Amino acid sequence: MRRTIIAPSVLGCSHGELASAAAGLEKDGADWIHLDVMDGVFVPVLTFGAGVARAVCSTVSIPVDAHLMVEHPAGLIESFAEAGCRYITFHPESSEKHIHRLLGRIKELGCYSGLALNPATSPEIIRWVADQLDLVLIMTVNPGYGGQKHIGVMHEKIRTVRDILDEAGRDDVAISVDGGVDSSNAAELVQAGASVLVSGSYITSSSDRAGAIAALRV
Ligand code: DX5
Ligand code: ZN
Repeated sequence: MRRTIIAPSVLGCSHGELASAAAGLEKDGADWIHLDVMDGVFVPVLTFGAGVARAVCSTVSIPVDAHLMVEHPAGLIESFAEAGCRYITFHPESSEKHIHRLLGRIKELGCYSGLALNPATSPEIIRWVADQLDLVLIMTVNPGYGGQKHIGVMHEKIRTVRDILDEAGRDDVAISVDGGVDSSNAAELVQAGASVLVSGSYITSSSDRAGAIAALRV
């Protein structure tokens, strides 16, 4: 049984201090830092680009996981790879038509590649891109905001994705879960097959971030 990876999202932190917030989370026991990149088109909110990612990557020594909630991911992946992000994940619901090719391009750039699925998106697509994948991110909220209610029916999708990956001989691919993750659902998520828990407000709104991270380890 592999160790569950805890990936705090810094979305709820002051955007003027993201690098120092990330450094603090590393000290508090985070395994990865999750960066929510929003373009104001794919989702209504605009967050930050590769310059901020570079500042975070150069401040922490743990992997940085860029979650691109953007309409045109192909135009951004090189700058996030150059910024030092180890994982780059994009959405198939974006305007990108050549999903398999873009996953391969992320790997050519020396990063791990990920595909993020909105709640209403069928997991079937995973079967056909399994050879180019390192991570599947299952959204358990609709993307765009932190602090939303966790959608519990997505646990069934985690099990389905785990089965698809096993059938494809890719049990090494990480399954990440993002949205409303806290200590009340962490064990069930891991039991369903998640290996990475992304958690934003539960960790960053806590007065004891190290304790919140520890409480997610199951
Ligand atoms: C939502 C983002 C999430 C979010 C998680 O669009 O992808 O990473 O920040 O925040 P919580 O844990 O508060 O749902
Ligand atoms: Zn995210």
